[in-house]
Amino acid sequence: MVRFPDLAFDAALSEFAEDVVAGLSAQPRTLPCKYFYDARGSDLFEAITDLPEYYPTRTEIGILHDRARDICAQLAPGSALIEYGSGSSIKTEILLVAGDFAAYAPIDISPSAVDGAARRLRRRFPDLHIEPVVADFIGDFSLPASLDGLPRAGFFPGSTIGNFAPADARALLRRMARQLGPGAKLIIGVDLRKSPDILIPAYDDAQGVTAAFNKNLLVRLRDELGAEIDVDGFRHRAVWNARDSRIEMHLEATCPQTIRVAGHDVAFEAGETIHTENSCKYGIADFEEIARAAGWRALETFVDAGNLFSVRVLEAQ
Ligand SMILES: C[S@@+](CC[C@H](N)C(=O)[O-])C[C@H]1O[C@@H](n2cnc3c(N)ncnc32)[C@H](O)[C@@H]1O
Repeated sequence: MVRFPDLAFDAALSEFAEDVVAGLSAQPRTLPCKYFYDARGSDLFEAITDLPEYYPTRTEIGILHDRARDICAQLAPGSALIEYGSGSSIKTEILLVAGDFAAYAPIDISPSAVDGAARRLRRRFPDLHIEPVVADFIGDFSLPASLDGLPRAGFFPGSTIGNFAPADARALLRRMARQLGPGAKLIIGVDLRKSPDILIPAYDDAQGVTAAFNKNLLVRLRDELGAEIDVDGFRHRAVWNARDSRIEMHLEATCPQTIRVAGHDVAFEAGETIHTENSCKYGIADFEEIARAAGWRALETFVDAGNLFSVRVLEAQ
């Protein structure tokens, strides 16, 4: 087990420890959602996407299946497909079959996710140049030099953009516009505002898979940072915040307790929570506004028959 003094030898662990101490010291207490995705977190996310309550994945896949040709018709032939937060790259295969791509660069913070996806896609598309990138897409990183000179199409599915508050979403989209360059396209999946009767079960399923995914953050604190923590002393909560149009995931202390991590003691009252994730839900026009302010022009918007989810094609100005 790694203890705090050892963390200085590992830059990634030190950053993890700093982010955890900063988040748990803040009020309200938070933990960054990017830390959900170690190998176990990536596997749990894949299990969530198969749950009957979790409508976003199957709905977005349905839209991509139905409209892949229309989507790809908006892209320059021979584009490099650059996917932010690619995970298992399951949705990508639909585009790769429908369109004309010279290269594919999956970008993810989870090495296990990109490695597994790249291995599978190389078998299925042996002529496609595939160059995986393990990076935090919020920070500075370079695209592979082998993509230089190719037209660019970004892909950002899964409504991962919803994990960012609107101002941060704008900043991230602006960075993508700069990284991909003028004239580049972006295919982005954006979840739509809908009844909490559909939203809450999607983020608090009957089998407890989302609860395990949320609590995996505490498991990582314990196993990777050597935190003294009673993982079972916290329970998963999903809350609809109507004012900010977002589902929030929290970990709620079921009794008074203290987490000791990286030399810090963080005391919790019973009922106090750690806010672990936001999933913002948008109306069609609200999101276009954010995209426009970030330097993207809306080309097409595709929505399923139930008005649950949208896939948009944008162009960088
Ligand atoms: C909601 S999942 C979506 C996965 C997949 N694109 C899909 O649509 O099913 C978010 C993905 O983004 C990755 N991710 C989250 N935050 C990230 C970050 N800051 N930098 C890079 N990847 C990140 C996670 O590892 C995960 O694979």
